[in-house]
Amino acid sequence: MEILSTPAAMTAWSQRARSGGMTVGLVPTMGFLHDGHLSLMRQLRSRVDRLVVSIYVNPLQFGPSEDLSSYPRDREGDLAKCASVGVDAVFVPEDLYPDGFSTLVSVNGLTEHLCGASRPGHFDGVCTVVARLFGVVRPDEAVFGEKDFQQLMVIRRMVEDLALPVRVLPGALMRDPDGLAMSSRNTYLSAEDRARALSIHRALGAMQAAEAAGERRVSALRSLGRAALDVDRLDYLEVVDALTLAPVDRVDGPARVAIAAWVGRPRLIDNMPLGPSLRWI
Ligand code: PAF
Repeated sequence: MEILSTPAAMTAWSQRARSGGMTVGLVPTMGFLHDGHLSLMRQLRSRVDRLVVSIYVNPLQFGPSEDLSSYPRDREGDLAKCASVGVDAVFVPEDLYPDGFSTLVSVNGLTEHLCGASRPGHFDGVCTVVARLFGVVRPDEAVFGEKDFQQLMVIRRMVEDLALPVRVLPGALMRDPDGLAMSSRNTYLSAEDRARALSIHRALGAMQAAEAAGERRVSALRSLGRAALDVDRLDYLEVVDALTLAPVDRVDGPARVAIAAWVGRPRLIDNMPLGPSLRWI
């Protein structure tokens, strides 16, 4: 497994692979890898000839009062995990942006609600870093987990709008056996807070079960979800159209229920599908 620490070295590596007729896949991450990341790597491993994982804690996507400086890091552990699933190259740039970098990639519409509303500028930072990573790594395919459902939809929109030559695939949301959605930020949870954080999964599950049993009214679904929650501060509990991410009053087509809440120190996000399944193309 190669470890590449500059954009130039990464691009040269990728160009060598591609000129040899090989396909390249990319799993972008911010490190502190868990089984959710490894499942994205395994998914892409079976589809491409050369698999790249990027590890970069992107300052552009953190707000001024967010956890950029304390974001968990474990370089050696991350490299061992990448090696264990057959990653060919890990891209760990110190600096990803060149001197004088002055570009911001912004997707409208899909970023109006959910995390886009409560974390202003977050998706501009995500789109900018992902566009830059696509330019440096030049992957044929990249995978983004459904845990960050809004991020996945925003990046698919960006790729389509800018005609970027990369296929963006959805990756399954992975949970611990008790239902907690896997996240690097779970490391901030005390044992007691972790037990309360499970209420997010319970709330989503209750809403999904009620919808499957015929309840289409979002007001009724939201009441059920709120009653199940045991969190310190709810950021949002929204039911949105799965394609436009705009809030809906009734579940009449593919929808998503999404929750963001603070439990102890971390702000956690999770979501589940409601209604008919989304057909990915
Ligand atoms: O999902 C993440 O870990 C980040 O938002 C990403 C896609 C790696 C961009 O920094």
